[in-house]
Amino acid sequence: MVLIDGKKISLELQSEIALEVKDIIAKGKKQPHLAAILVGDDPASQTYVNNKVKACQNVGFKSTLIRFETTVSEQKLLSKIDELNNDDDVDGYIVQLPLPKNISEQKIIEAIKPSKDVDGFHPVNVGRLVLNLPTYVSATPFGIVQLLERYNIPTDGKHCVVIGRSHIVGSPMSILMAKNTKLANCTVTLCHSHTKNLKEHTLNADIIIAAIGKPNFVTADMVKEGAVIIDVGINRVNDASLAKGFKLVGDVKFDEVSKKSSYITPVPGGVGPMTIASLLKNTLIAAKKEF
Ligand code: GUN
Repeated sequence: MVLIDGKKISLELQSEIALEVKDIIAKGKKQPHLAAILVGDDPASQTYVNNKVKACQNVGFKSTLIRFETTVSEQKLLSKIDELNNDDDVDGYIVQLPLPKNISEQKIIEAIKPSKDVDGFHPVNVGRLVLNLPTYVSATPFGIVQLLERYNIPTDGKHCVVIGRSHIVGSPMSILMAKNTKLANCTVTLCHSHTKNLKEHTLNADIIIAAIGKPNFVTADMVKEGAVIIDVGINRVNDASLAKGFKLVGDVKFDEVSKKSSYITPVPGGVGPMTIASLLKNTLIAAKKEF
């Protein structure tokens, strides 16, 4: 079994991005700039956004964090988005999700200028992904295909089972894995909460991508010997023995599934760090105006 080290690959990618930034600046061009909007004080969202901002510093990007109270109006948020859309210094920006219930996430996402939507959430960018056109692939799916590539894990003709159909991970992941590219070219089965006999599908999978947000959901009896296991879950489970009061566990029961797998991502340290590297890569693409 090979443990896929997402932290190491993420740092490698960040070093490559940092070299490109040096080159851009040496040519007298402006420093790439990522902005992030964070609404409210959800601890997990704060951690994610802080990590994104920190990563910008590591690679030499300029970053701007824009914070709003949970009570912010949709209108106020939309006017900030309009400002960022028209700010030539900002190459790309993200609005951290989830947003408070009184704000329409869809309306906010659709207000983002597609050329600055480095999360790849805008319907134009999702459509471009479906049509195999150059686009911003959302960070988690992009991170996963980069992990498969860096570990030389064959995908051509393989059966990939994606569990979960969220807009952020499961749906774009299934599209990406089915594409005729050197990074994918799989036969894909997209499973979800209404899938009957889930185990019948997963037992046939060469690659399982678990993105359901349920701790320890994928167990050894669901997995074929030698399968590649990608665990997207980051679930907080109470643990009174730890000072912070919780631990992070994935969607895969790591101890038992790892024994049957050929490759597996740990939680933490697997897919998570890759999402940051992907966001930085998308921001670099935006700064270079590649499409
Ligand atoms: N919430 C969970 N994951 C993400 C992400 O990749 N981008 C944004 N904007 N919000 C998220």
